[in-house]
Amino acid sequence: MADAPVDTVASVPVAVVGAGPAGLMLAHRLGRAGVGTIVLDTRTRREIETTQRAGILEADVARDLVETGVSDRILRDGHEHEGTELRFGGRAHRIHFKALVGESVWLYPQTDVFIDLADARERDGGTVHFGVRDTEVLDITTDAPRVRYTAADGSRHEIRARYVVGADGSRSMCRDLVPEERRTRYGREYPFAWFGILAEAPMSAPELIYAHSEHGFALISQRTEAVQRMYFQCGPGESVDAWSDDRIWETLQARVAGEDGFRLKEGPVVEKTVLRFRSFVQEPMRWGSMVLAGDAAHTVPPTGARGLNLAMHDVKVLADVLLRALGREGGAALDAYQPRALQRVWRAQNFSYWMTRLLHTAPGASAFDLRRQLGELDNVVGTRAGRTYLSEQYTGWPASAQD
Ligand code: PHB
Repeated sequence: MADAPVDTVASVPVAVVGAGPAGLMLAHRLGRAGVGTIVLDTRTRREIETTQRAGILEADVARDLVETGVSDRILRDGHEHEGTELRFGGRAHRIHFKALVGESVWLYPQTDVFIDLADARERDGGTVHFGVRDTEVLDITTDAPRVRYTAADGSRHEIRARYVVGADGSRSMCRDLVPEERRTRYGREYPFAWFGILAEAPMSAPELIYAHSEHGFALISQRTEAVQRMYFQCGPGESVDAWSDDRIWETLQARVAGEDGFRLKEGPVVEKTVLRFRSFVQEPMRWGSMVLAGDAAHTVPPTGARGLNLAMHDVKVLADVLLRALGREGGAALDAYQPRALQRVWRAQNFSYWMTRLLHTAPGASAFDLRRQLGELDNVVGTRAGRTYLSEQYTGWPASAQD
């Protein structure tokens, strides 16, 4: 296959496998610096646009979308949140990020980030091929890696590049190209999943609510004035078919119920998905001429809303080192990528794990476990150090001097 005839051969400095936010933002950043890319994805644009993902952006990520010229739609359609609510013991506790650490976050769904980036690529004349198949990444231990693929119309193509970026998500095939004996995979599974819904209902709260209850975790998020996004902890093997609208609302209401009489505003459930998640990191993030970015190299549980933000940080650093590597510094410039990216990755791994454990009820949790958890939650909301810790981690870490 590696040398079978193809219909076209294209040459470009950087080939990108994966047209999610990480791949497209990298292409956008490189494009602004005059470096050409070709981006490939096995999914169609429509498939990516209609897959619900998380919705919280760090202020820095939101600023970068606007300031690098992707789009300023976030300023109109996004919602700036200066804090979030932790609910436990049947009571609400607001964490005021802005007052504590001077930052806020933006509620702006990842699907909208993707749409903005895909539109920006089109507007700027960038090349993105959706719906491709049989993608092969070849010769990554040389200075002339290649990517071969079959386009949606069945024609075969080859891209000759100087670097290949694997931004192909949590089921990455690029990361498997790092030889088994030279890579390390770190991770853990969780004994629960999230049941995610979209409901046609008014907003129940102006900001997100992360709720702990003896029945398990729930998260109340929003999409628009008329459509809401919510999640509740469920078993990893749960089937959506077993859940009627009534059962879903009963479960959600029980998890947010409290002495203040708070109730969610209900409406028809228009989408249901069970989301399994895990913590995962693969090192190294680079092998020869191939570099991994975003979920391909690391995934986090969704509880801390870190995933997309982390991917965006990766590609900011990666665009910088790739530009240097393609310029006078040469390939050695890429050595800086992993250490710069990984520091934030492990911070985010810790925070996502911590927040997941803080809020979920493990199967078989004892009365002691539950009380201890309430003690920890009380420490978080009841001490300035606790509130500040959560705020700093949730709004993202300031970029280090070199970033
Ligand atoms: C979402 O709005 O989908 C969302 C928000 C925060 C999270 C996870 C998901 O931590």
